[in-house]
Amino acid sequence: MVKICCIGAGYVGGPTMAVIAFKCPSIEVVVVDISVSRIAAWNSDQLPIYEPGLDDVVKQCRGKNLFFSTNIEQHVSEADIIFVSVNTPTKTRGLGAGKAADLTYWESAARMIADVSKSDKIVVEKSTVPVKTAEAIEKILTHNSRGVKYQILSNPEFLAEGTAIQDLFKPDRVLIGGRETPEGRKAVQALKDVYAHWVPEDRIITTNLWSAELSKLAANAFLAQRISSVNAISALCEATGANVSEVAYAVGKDSRVGPKFLNASVGFGGSCFQKDILNLVYICECNGLPEVADYWRQVIKINDYQKNRFVNRVVSSMFNTVSGKKIAVLGFAFKKDTGDTRETPAIDVCKGLLGDNAKISIYDPQVTEDQIRRDLAMNKFDWDHPAHLQPMSPTAVKQASVTWDAYEATKGAHGVCILTEWDEFKELDYQRIYDNMQKPAFIFDGRNVVDPETLRAIGFIVYSIGKPLDSWLKDMPAVA
Ligand code: NAI
Repeated sequence: MVKICCIGAGYVGGPTMAVIAFKCPSIEVVVVDISVSRIAAWNSDQLPIYEPGLDDVVKQCRGKNLFFSTNIEQHVSEADIIFVSVNTPTKTRGLGAGKAADLTYWESAARMIADVSKSDKIVVEKSTVPVKTAEAIEKILTHNSRGVKYQILSNPEFLAEGTAIQDLFKPDRVLIGGRETPEGRKAVQALKDVYAHWVPEDRIITTNLWSAELSKLAANAFLAQRISSVNAISALCEATGANVSEVAYAVGKDSRVGPKFLNASVGFGGSCFQKDILNLVYICECNGLPEVADYWRQVIKINDYQKNRFVNRVVSSMFNTVSGKKIAVLGFAFKKDTGDTRETPAIDVCKGLLGDNAKISIYDPQVTEDQIRRDLAMNKFDWDHPAHLQPMSPTAVKQASVTWDAYEATKGAHGVCILTEWDEFKELDYQRIYDNMQKPAFIFDGRNVVDPETLRAIGFIVYSIGKPLDSWLKDMPAVA
């Protein structure tokens, strides 16, 4: 029986390994982590992450061929294939601070593998890493090998949170990079055999190590660039009276462009896009390519601009101040169908409103009050460390409250900001919300989930990203 061990039981390690176990009953899969509470949650009825379909998959395999454990060394030493899916945060100090990937967790995992291994291993990079990381890992392992042979593979993960199980069941592609030597090719084949249990052969792409590592960074940069492109156009739409949904539809009809991922919004979030682009920018700079670095940096600048623009719209529409006003925030997760808040635009929008002294009342169907409070108090980039190693919140944010009900959040509010595209926000009783708000009542739709005309008919003043402006907003400055 092939034995797989995955180091890191997070958003990637948990779901990917659960699906491998589900699809390959003949393989034993153990997911290990340094976080005791995370492993306990994976072994309980309340999994540590929310992902549609995940519960079912885990329940069907857990205890049979899928295990979660903190006994890292034992399972690593017994495994044939070791996936490493640990955090790769952005460095906050030293060389490359604010851009480069911090490989502390990766390096400590590699050193531990070298310490405990007694038989040959295939080590698979699942985390997103800078190009050439495999070379560094290879050096750590071979310099400490004591006769054990290692093959390093790059197998970046392309799942999207919110649709992770669907993506893992039917991936657009599985990418495996390896050394172009007989041993390297054999290792690639061994990993291919795992995926071949359910992924069609033509969807399994094999490349050299560096292409695989770079493809992941490039893929995320392209995706984020699409969002920044449509968001840049949304600002121009507001200035000209064009409608960004109509423009995006017309543009996306070109088969070379395609219709997906063209929704204008308050900005992209999530743990990967910003981090991976910063990493790409740093790699370009290190390779003497400042023009290429600047090109990709602009994707992040537009994203920051879009979040600021949204906050400015809110403040300027409401008589240029939100001081002391109650603003309801509907949605805090970085997108629907996940409870993940890492780099969610809601953090920057809330901080912007709090900076103008607003009182905010937040409702999200999947995010806990504790998480929201941590996010609002945390410094940039601190979130991407194992939970028990994150710095303690410096001060609790008193001006923010969290509720479990959209009607409670909006009661008595002057304005409502929709920051996540949860389906349930389309179905709310907006007449009821309007009746219980201060007047004039404002809605700022950062995800274009509500129909502005229907809400205007109720009496709301409505701002929807990239849509023709309400007459109320026409003379207000778009950017303060
Ligand atoms: P996460 O923070 O949810 O999980 C990482 C886990 O690794 C944590 O539970 C942490 O306690 C554990 N860990 C850290 N160091 C460890 C060590 N030495 N030994 C054992 N466990 C250790 O992170 P997530 O989202 O799963 O991401 C992991 C990697 O995958 C990152 O490089 C990320 O960029 C990449 N990625 C993330 C995607 C996503 O949608 N979240 C998609 C594709 C790639």
